[in-house]
Amino acid sequence: MAENLRGPELMEKLVSLCKRRGFIYPGSEIYGGLANSWDYGPLGVELKNNIKQMWWKMFVQRRGDMVGIDAALLMNPKVWVATGHVATFSDPMVECKACHARLRVDNLEGAVMDAGAEGGWNISGAKCPVCGKKDFGVPRQFNMMLQTHLGPVQDETSVVYMRPETAQAMFVDFKNVLETTRRRLPFGIAQIGKAFRNEITPGNFIFRQREFEQMEIEYFIREEESAEQFEHWLDAMKKWLTKIGVAPERLHFVDISEEDRAFYSKRTVDVEYDYPFGQKELYGLAYRTDYDLSKHEQHSGQDLKFTNPDDQKEKIVPHVIEPSFGVDRTLLVAMLEAYHEDIADNELRIVMRFPYWMAPVKVAVLPLSKKEELSVPARMLAQQLREADLAVDYDETQSIGKRYRRQDEIGTPFCVTYDFDTITDGAVTIRDRDTMEQVRVAIPDVAHYISSRL
Ligand code: GAP
Repeated sequence: MAENLRGPELMEKLVSLCKRRGFIYPGSEIYGGLANSWDYGPLGVELKNNIKQMWWKMFVQRRGDMVGIDAALLMNPKVWVATGHVATFSDPMVECKACHARLRVDNLEGAVMDAGAEGGWNISGAKCPVCGKKDFGVPRQFNMMLQTHLGPVQDETSVVYMRPETAQAMFVDFKNVLETTRRRLPFGIAQIGKAFRNEITPGNFIFRQREFEQMEIEYFIREEESAEQFEHWLDAMKKWLTKIGVAPERLHFVDISEEDRAFYSKRTVDVEYDYPFGQKELYGLAYRTDYDLSKHEQHSGQDLKFTNPDDQKEKIVPHVIEPSFGVDRTLLVAMLEAYHEDIADNELRIVMRFPYWMAPVKVAVLPLSKKEELSVPARMLAQQLREADLAVDYDETQSIGKRYRRQDEIGTPFCVTYDFDTITDGAVTIRDRDTMEQVRVAIPDVAHYISSRL
């Protein structure tokens, strides 16, 4: 991130770049939008897929102790009764009587928890951040689960919830996974997918949305391993943060105190990041004990214990360590970290310094002239590179300098220039995004040259 760009200015520049270059658009824009909904455009979807694929590789495919699932988004509503979400997945909300802003009480400056006060909060010291008045209604709990109905009749019996986290499917499918994969403890189940929360105050671009994506792991362990496994996963999360290019000085690992933790968690570390709008949560790591499996045992009446095939006397409800990652927040942080401005050829250059593996376009093929003698073979080279599984952009319009700038702005690591010498020497010039160094490479070696550097 450019050191001179830390505050709201950086956010404004990033949101504008996202729209201008097709990373992220406001949702339903031609109908006036839908508040705080966002659509990933052609470059955004590539970036997001690269992040999800690398996460899956690192946390599932490259480990012998992990398996994945992709569960249905709508689950039996009893799931959410068992976990306590129906009763307690809520935020305290209050309405300002003067301007009718609906606000989260726990975010109101001057509001203090007070079991004796109406709604559990004393808000006499708070004022509305929107209009400045001190005239509030009574705080009340607002359940954040989004509801819909299944089937033709819309009554209480047909209510289902859009899952507020992907995590529960790992517990609900635990028995099936155990029976079909014959795993031994410790082992984990991972999932990437959408989650929905009717947030009271969404905002800050894609930071807090009502529809978002999570990458979650439930790692099943014996209770006595909990401290060691917690450290292991904290370390694994740090390695991932390095992989996506986050500067360590902008990260904070915050041990959440007992009174602020979810009641079932015996230890929680929030991974927080210095966003341009302040230090806020990026990821979470929680020791969820045996809470979820025990609750699902009680409510489903099924045996969800693990029986050790090597020692039948060991029959236990495993404990769980849960590393939880937001996809959209990962992408936001990756973009904030990547955004740089510098001077190249006496011009301001915006350059997204994504790690090469993450870049949505890996190579741009740029013929020096639009003339057929260059453009026809350059298009053929672009197609060859696509067939070598590289994400390729082909661009023949405007000056070569402008084309380089366009590619820098979307973070393309390599630009291949097909020039008049190529016709005779069969080689192209490859320019590196970060060093801006140029090397001459024979056409048959281009795909390997690039792939080996990603
Ligand atoms: N299963 C545990 C769980 O869901 P969480 O802290 O509520 O824990 C996990 O959510 C992660 O999901 C967060 O650290 C964040 O990255 C992401 N997340 C949560 N709410 C979000 C929202 N409204 N918009 C975008 N991302 C969100």
